[in-house]
Amino acid sequence: MIRVPGDKSISHRALLLSALASGVSELEGLLPGEDCRSTAGILRVLGCEVPELPSDGGPIRIQGLGLRGLSAPEGVLDCGNSGTTARLLLGLLSGLSIPAVLDGDPSLRSRPMGRVTDPLRAAGGRFTELGAPGRLPLRVVEARIGALRYTSPVASAQVKSALLLAGLGAGRRVEVTEPAPSRDHSERMLRRMGVRVEGEGEGPHRIVMSEPPSNLKALSLRVPGDISSAAFLLVLGALGPRGLSIANVGLNPTRTGVLAVLERMGARIRAENTREMDDPGGEPAGDLVVLPGPLNAVRIGGSEIPSLIDEIPILAVAATRARGTTEIRDAEELRVKESDRISAMVQNLEAVGARVEELPDGLRIEGSNRALEGKVRSFGDHRIAMAFGILGALPGNRIQVDDRGIVDVSFPGFWELLEAQGSFSGQGSRSSEGTPPRASAPEARRDDTEGPDRQAAMGRAPIVTLDGPAGSGKSSTAREVARRLGFLHLDSGALYRAATLTLLRSGLPAEEWPDRGSGELDGAKLELVPEEGELVVRLNGEIQGEELRSPEVTERVAEVAAIPHVRERILGPLREAAREGGVVADGRDMGTVVLPHADLKVYLTASLAERARRRLLQEGVELDAARLEEESLRLAARDDADRRREVAPLRRPQDAVELDTTGLTFDRQVEAIIQAVRSLDRSQEPPVT
Ligand code: S3P
Repeated sequence: MIRVPGDKSISHRALLLSALASGVSELEGLLPGEDCRSTAGILRVLGCEVPELPSDGGPIRIQGLGLRGLSAPEGVLDCGNSGTTARLLLGLLSGLSIPAVLDGDPSLRSRPMGRVTDPLRAAGGRFTELGAPGRLPLRVVEARIGALRYTSPVASAQVKSALLLAGLGAGRRVEVTEPAPSRDHSERMLRRMGVRVEGEGEGPHRIVMSEPPSNLKALSLRVPGDISSAAFLLVLGALGPRGLSIANVGLNPTRTGVLAVLERMGARIRAENTREMDDPGGEPAGDLVVLPGPLNAVRIGGSEIPSLIDEIPILAVAATRARGTTEIRDAEELRVKESDRISAMVQNLEAVGARVEELPDGLRIEGSNRALEGKVRSFGDHRIAMAFGILGALPGNRIQVDDRGIVDVSFPGFWELLEAQGSFSGQGSRSSEGTPPRASAPEARRDDTEGPDRQAAMGRAPIVTLDGPAGSGKSSTAREVARRLGFLHLDSGALYRAATLTLLRSGLPAEEWPDRGSGELDGAKLELVPEEGELVVRLNGEIQGEELRSPEVTERVAEVAAIPHVRERILGPLREAAREGGVVADGRDMGTVVLPHADLKVYLTASLAERARRRLLQEGVELDAARLEEESLRLAARDDADRRREVAPLRRPQDAVELDTTGLTFDRQVEAIIQAVRSLDRSQEPPVT
């Protein structure tokens, strides 16, 4: 049986509400995706000690701070790619009258926030727009929220939940009417915590939350698997060569529209072992079994749209293989998701040769059994990338998806799971014929590195990698960890400097380095060799020191490090230096590309505000709120550029341990890594009997 990661919507709410509870909440099965990490990271900045989200969905405990316990943040709150984080926090923080600035990546910055701030403003909330009208970045200004009564033109769980959270923070009754029922996870969770919330009517649907109590009961919750993630596999099972079983999928009736539509298309799907998670009124869940078989075209629209809004990309993919023409209508909301999903689907379907027609509120797709082939773009949207991953895995199709790492937003491990289903192996090798997949795709690189079994050969000391965004302190940390462990610090920067020196000495003009420099580098002998407890660069047999730090090299090194052939060229010396183990390597792609089989991978993070603070301190600049905010925004833009860059984009390695250093001293963060290295040793010792 396959398992999918925890439900994204439930995970966000469980994190936020646990922080507000009185007492310790116990949560299991939370989604460890980037979106939920954004919510967890922000809660930490607001003063709640949220542990790292375990990558296996293991249990965590959160000590709630009570309804008034969160504190005003310094710097900017980074919502990343997550609309749910941004909108729910706009509601909560304005209800609590906590001043803060919220921002996100370019995709999130393009999404409308007025749908939340307008009704909040009408109730007395205040916001300042720091960017485009109705978009992030937005400042929440201290203000008292009054009565909250709102009829929403869209059926949006984010709008509804933002208002409920605002009412919770402000101690107010809330009444929201939506045109059709949107997902009701917030209502269910609030009830379990002792808040009175009622919903009535199918369309319009009215939700009334009574004036909240002053204390919320802590949660004890197991989050079911996300049906929005399971949907991809259901389509694979229905249209692929063999059926599939998926364990423990959330079956909340406000989310199961995708099952109803697939069944209407003729898919054979069975729910087994259905149950209510935790207690009556919790979240229903069950195992899903899908059998292969032909599908027929259908019409999708009307009030069922909110119950399957996130599944439309994969339903459109299913429609390419259905008999007849499928029409999807009333789905204009798709235009303001992580991408304009109508336009993204139409462009990509056309790019692979499917017949499709764009409609203002949806699309029409003609089914066929023609082979679909070509390159598609993710448009920075996890669900677009996964929908086309599945289309490419269907028999006969060959599709390359550009930005595969984006799936980490909601479904870390998606590509590996697809590969394990045997559906993806062909596509993986084919993709190397054309544009190479993004370096972050771990499976794409396995063949040119040491095999995973090598790692099991425990005759050597561990290899440790440290990756992380700019300003996370990875190189100073790596150096200190190596020093205390008696390991060598593997610093790729020195090799980039040596490559820069070689190119400078070659006399080739700098404009020609990207195209013609590889010959010069191939002719040079580049090594990292241990000397007095450090790895030093040896170029053509000679140890290099001061030359590597000359102003000419310093000026050019960043540009050289962005040249693909240079990165390829230094892989060999880096891997060679790590071969014997006993190294701590830091960089932006150490755990993903250079040493994908490292024994311990650490991903260092810190809140934007903290990283900004460290940067400014390092530069000796005096700290004030305006400077911190400016530096935070600059770092957010830099993160985004680093994630999107073509060469060595910044990615959290799939199997990395994340270490959020926001509240840690340098010493404690170094110790935490050393502990992790030591427990690695223990886990490799034979068990004591
Ligand atoms: C979500 C609600 C939906 C959905 C999103 C998650 C939530 O958005 O598309 O992925 O967790 O509340 P809208 O509320 O904007 O429809």
